[in-house]
Amino acid sequence: MHGTIFFHLQGFAEKVLGPSGWKKLLEEAGMPMKVYSPAAAHADEDIIALVKAACSLTKLSAAEVLGAFGEYLAAELLALYPQLIRPDWRTLDVVSNTEHAIHTVVRAKNLDATPPVLRAQRVSHDQVHLVYASPRQMCTLVKGIVKGKRHPPEALHFAYYLARHARTRHRELQIRRTHHSQLRR
Ligand code: HEM
Repeated sequence: MHGTIFFHLQGFAEKVLGPSGWKKLLEEAGMPMKVYSPAAAHADEDIIALVKAACSLTKLSAAEVLGAFGEYLAAELLALYPQLIRPDWRTLDVVSNTEHAIHTVVRAKNLDATPPVLRAQRVSHDQVHLVYASPRQMCTLVKGIVKGKRHPPEALHFAYYLARHARTRHRELQIRRTHHSQLRR
């Protein structure tokens, strides 16, 4: 995982667990005190161990930890490359355009960055069908990032498809904009 994500995980840990949150997280993961350079890639095993440690410290599930971290991360990522986001894009437009307008550019600019492949199909004005492919299997982080991006505020409903392609390990996600206050999760 790229150092940018570790860097923001440190900020998130300190926000949620207090100023010594990063230290606590590393200790819980049985890792030595370290700062991950945001200019390089680091082992996926490390982020997996840190998420696991966050689960034991907070008593939350991995999906809940990744969801909350994704919400925090959204603002940081969007601030990183504001020029990639058209000002008139609403949340579902960002989701539909992440692969070709954002992650493709991120891969070109950071040769060691390997963001997930997100194939989006705009099913209707209010709905996007997303196929997520990543060996990291952090689909719930997508949900958090999308929720964190909601500006202007929009009610969204997320449904994970049961279909989990065993060989390719793709996950499918349906994101629907709901009207009224139907947002539950
Ligand atoms: C300007 C906005 C964005 C920027 C700059 C950005 C950049 C990045 C970067 C640098 C990584 C780390 C890649 C690596 O570890 O090698 C990443 C990972 C990720 N991004 Fe984005 N991203 C953006 C928006 C989004 C959006 C809108 C979504 C969801 C629709 C998304 C989903 C993810 C996920 C789930 C990961 C975690 C890695 C994985 O699952 O394999 N990103 N992104």
